[in-house]
Amino acid sequence: MMNGAAKTVIVLTGASGGIGQALARELAKPGIYIALVARDEKRLQPLLDSIKSQGADGEIAAIDIRDRERLHQYLHDLDERYPIEIVIANAGVTAGLGSNRTRETDADSDRQIDVNYRGVVNTVAGAIDGMQFRKSGQVVLVSSLAGMRALPDMPSYSATKAAVIAYGHSLRGWLKPFGISVTILCPGFVTTPMSARHKGAKPFEMPADKAARMMRQAIEKKKSFYAFPFMLALGIRLQNLLPPKIGDLFLGGFEAEIEQDPRYRETADN
Ligand SMILES: NC(=O)c1ccc[n+]([C@@H]2O[C@H](COP(=O)([O-])OP(=O)(O)OC[C@H]3O[C@@H](n4cnc5c(N)ncnc54)[C@H](OP(=O)(O)O)[C@@H]3O)[C@@H](O)[C@H]2O)c1
Repeated sequence: MMNGAAKTVIVLTGASGGIGQALARELAKPGIYIALVARDEKRLQPLLDSIKSQGADGEIAAIDIRDRERLHQYLHDLDERYPIEIVIANAGVTAGLGSNRTRETDADSDRQIDVNYRGVVNTVAGAIDGMQFRKSGQVVLVSSLAGMRALPDMPSYSATKAAVIAYGHSLRGWLKPFGISVTILCPGFVTTPMSARHKGAKPFEMPADKAARMMRQAIEKKKSFYAFPFMLALGIRLQNLLPPKIGDLFLGGFEAEIEQDPRYRETADN
């Protein structure tokens, strides 16, 4: 059972990554219990120590969010021990085109669909039953500005992030009568291992701790949709008002090559 000090229980996927670590530290304070989820336990342990030194409590769960059965089993077990109040589906992966702008590999395309979309659905589905029963909770989905305006060099990434936005809008309507709020977050370029592999212009790039602060504030305010930084999000909103062929003219500066993700082997099953 929950100890006396812990009040708000948060599940955070992708906790070992740039945004995940920054967000965990940003959220950590006495009364907060964070379940840190990612595949790599070695990178989660120091983070757990760090949030404990900030007065928070928590645990680590080395789980691949593509493994629905294992993830659901873990989340149901966690929810019995520590009723989940907030689930933050943050884990994600990127990939881009092949060399000389050839197509994405099938493995890259599948992996992005499996982690960025199916993994998000697995995460939410595993956490929602208890919230619905208790009639309280918050679902936070980390999408991307690329989900609002697709980047030409990142087809599957953009599509999965757009899918997460659509999924979030649907969840909001479905879950509102159950007292569960939904917050969709769309960051621009944030300095992390993921963006380090993004070789191209990254206008308005911001440090992960600054992004995490803005994300925490949006979560606390229970915003339905928060896209940032403001200027880039505004530019995309205006671009989306134009006919697509005209709007595309403004995408000229966004060519990018995405380096291979070292955490995934180059095989069809990864
Ligand atoms: N950085 C940016 O500029 C930017 C901009 C917009 C949106 N975003 C989004 O923000 C989120 C975090 O990105 P980031 O920049 O922090 O990336 P990152 O540093 O590469 O971290 C990605 C995180 O996802 C986890 N992950 C990857 N595959 C997983 C799997 N199959 N199962 C469980 N966890 C998995 C990784 O941990 P393991 O490898 O240990 O599993 C890691 O913790 C992503 O959804 C990304 O799309 C980032």
